[in-house]
Amino acid sequence: MTTQKTSSEKKRYYEPAPQDIDVANFRKVVESRRSVRKFTDKPIPSEILDECLDLALLAPNSSNLQPWTFYVVQSPAKKKQLVKACLNQLAAKTAPELIVCVARTDRIDEMAKLNITEFPFPEAPPAVQKYYRFIPYNYKTGYFNALGNFKKVAFKVARTLDKQLPVTAFNPADAKLWATKTTALACENFVLALRAYGFDSCMMEGFDEPLVRKILNLSDQQHPVMVISAGERAEDGVFFPQYRFDRDLFIQKV
Ligand SMILES: Cc1cc2nc3c(=O)[nH]c(=O)nc-3n(C[C@H](O)[C@H](O)[C@H](O)COP(=O)(O)O)c2cc1C
Repeated sequence: MTTQKTSSEKKRYYEPAPQDIDVANFRKVVESRRSVRKFTDKPIPSEILDECLDLALLAPNSSNLQPWTFYVVQSPAKKKQLVKACLNQLAAKTAPELIVCVARTDRIDEMAKLNITEFPFPEAPPAVQKYYRFIPYNYKTGYFNALGNFKKVAFKVARTLDKQLPVTAFNPADAKLWATKTTALACENFVLALRAYGFDSCMMEGFDEPLVRKILNLSDQQHPVMVISAGERAEDGVFFPQYRFDRDLFIQKV
C-alpha cells in the first residue's frame, strides 16, 4: 500500500524560516555574554529562569535523544555544599542560582521509546520507529562493554569493505563524550537565553566531581558536565576584557 501524503499533510512538514530576525540583537546577546565571576543579590524571576531552561532544551541534540538533566539547586543546604564543591569560587558563592548540567547515558532506551510515542504526528512513520529501535545500540555499550567490543570488531570488518559508518560508542568513555557534546550545546543555549533576558552566567568545570555526584546522588552513568552560576552581573563582576586569538588559528576553509 502506498502512503501518499495529502497536500495538507505535506504542508505540515514545511516550516518556513522566519525572515524578520534581528541580527543586530542576536549579535548583542552573543557579544555581551561574558563569564561573570561576581553577581548582585538580585534574584532571577522563576518564570525567566524557566524560560531560559526551556530554551536550553531546544538545543540540537544527537538523534533527539535529549541525554541531559539540569539540576537547579535551590535548597539552601545543597547550595552551600555545591558552592564548596565548586571550590568556593566567587562565581559560585555570589550566584543567586546554580545549575548542574548533567549528561546522561542511562536513559537512551527510554528516550528512544519517547521519540516513537511522542512523535508529533498521530503515529510515528515506520522509518522513524525502525530508527529508534536501532539507534540505542549505536550509543550503548552493554554489560562489561560486550556491545562496545562487538561493534569495534564489526566496524573494523565493515571498513575493510569500504563501508562508511557513523560515530558510535565503543566504550563507556565514548558514550559519555556522546552525551556531553549534546549537553554542552544546551548549556550554551541556556547562557545566551539568560543574556537575552539581561542576566549573566559563568560556566564552571572547576568543581569537585565526586562531591557534586554525592550532593545530587548521581549514578556512574550521569556525568556532571559543568555547573552554571547565574544571576545579575555585578559592576565589578567581569574581571578583564574579552579577547580571542587570531581567527586564522581556528578557521580553515578547505
Ligand atoms: C567548560 C567551561 C568551563 C569553565 N570553567 C570555569 C571555571 O571553573 N571558573 C571560571 O571562573 N570560569 C570558567 N570558565 C569560563 C572561561 O574561563 C571563559 O569562558 C573564558 O576565559 C573566556 O571568557 P568569556 O567567557 O568571558 O568570553 C569555563 C568555561 C567553559 C566553557
